[in-house]
Amino acid sequence: MKTIVLTNQKGGVGKTTSSSEFAYLFSQKGYKVILISFDQQGDLELQLNIGDKKSFSLLDCMQAKCRIDEAIIHLEHFDFLASDDDLSQADKLFPDTVDAFLFNDTIEWLEENLKYDFAIVDTAPSRSILHRMALMAADYVLIPVDSSPGSLKGVSKIKEDIDLLKKRRMSEAIILGTYMTSTRKTNLNKGIENQLEQLSIANGTIKFENSIRQTVSVGESKQFKISLNEYDFHNNAALDYRKLTNEILKRIDEFHSK
Ligand SMILES: Nc1ncnc2c1ncn2[C@@H]1O[C@H](COP(=O)(O)OP(=O)(O)OP(=O)(O)O)[C@@H](O)[C@H]1O
Ligand SMILES: [Mg+2]
Repeated sequence: MKTIVLTNQKGGVGKTTSSSEFAYLFSQKGYKVILISFDQQGDLELQLNIGDKKSFSLLDCMQAKCRIDEAIIHLEHFDFLASDDDLSQADKLFPDTVDAFLFNDTIEWLEENLKYDFAIVDTAPSRSILHRMALMAADYVLIPVDSSPGSLKGVSKIKEDIDLLKKRRMSEAIILGTYMTSTRKTNLNKGIENQLEQLSIANGTIKFENSIRQTVSVGESKQFKISLNEYDFHNNAALDYRKLTNEILKRIDEFHSK
C-alpha cells in the first residue's frame, strides 16, 4: 500500500477536492483505495454525504475505542475513514511523544490486513500535531497550490517539516510534487506558476506539468455529492484531474523502479 498525503497549511487550495477526485480516479483504474479524512473540519464527510453511515471515526481507531475495520465505511468506488470534531483537541489528546505514531499504526494495520493499493489522506490547513502525524505515515506527499502567495509559503514549510522529521528518523515521506489548482488565465496566476517553478528548482520539489483549471462544475459536483468526473466527464477540470492522475501514477512508478 502506498500512502499519499495531501497537505498545505494554506486553507482553500484544493486539498479536499483533490483527495476525493484522486480516490475516485484511482479506483477507476482498478486500484483498491481508502480515502481518509484527517481534518476535524469534516469537509470530505459533507462532500461524500456520509451522514449516519458513520459509526466510528479515525480518532476512535487511534484511541482503540473500536476495531479499525468497524470504522471503515464502504462507498460505491472506495472505502472511507471519517474524521472527528474532537481532532481539534489533538494537542491535548496526544500529549506523549509516542502518541505521534498512532496514525502511522492505523495506516500499518490497513496495509497489513486489508491490502489497499492506496490510502489517500486529506489534511487540515495547519502545521499542528496532526500534520506531523500525517507526514510520519506518508510514503508520498502531494502539495496543491493556488494563486495566493500564502500557498507557496506552504511548500517551503512542508519541505522543512519533512526534512526535520527525516533527520529524527520519524518519516520517510517523499514529496511527489506540487501542482496548481483553480487556475485562470490571469497575470497573477502566471506569476505564481512561475514562482512555483523557480521554488521547485531551488528546493528540489518537482512541479507537475498538469494544473487544474477553475470551473463552476467543481462546486456543482459537490452539491450533487459525486466526483467531478462522474458529474461532468468532459469538463476542463475533470480532464485536468485525469491527466494529473496519470502523471502522479507515472511518477510513483518511477520512484518504485529506482
Ligand atoms: N478547480 C476548481 N475550480 C473551482 N473551484 C474549486 C476548484 N478546486 C477547488 N475549488 C473550490 O475551492 C474551495 C476550496 O477547496 P477545498 O475545500 O478542496 O480546499 P482545501 O484546501 O481542502 O481547504 P481547507 O484548507 O479549508 O481544508 C471549495 O469551495 C472548492 O469547491
Ligand atoms: Mg479541506
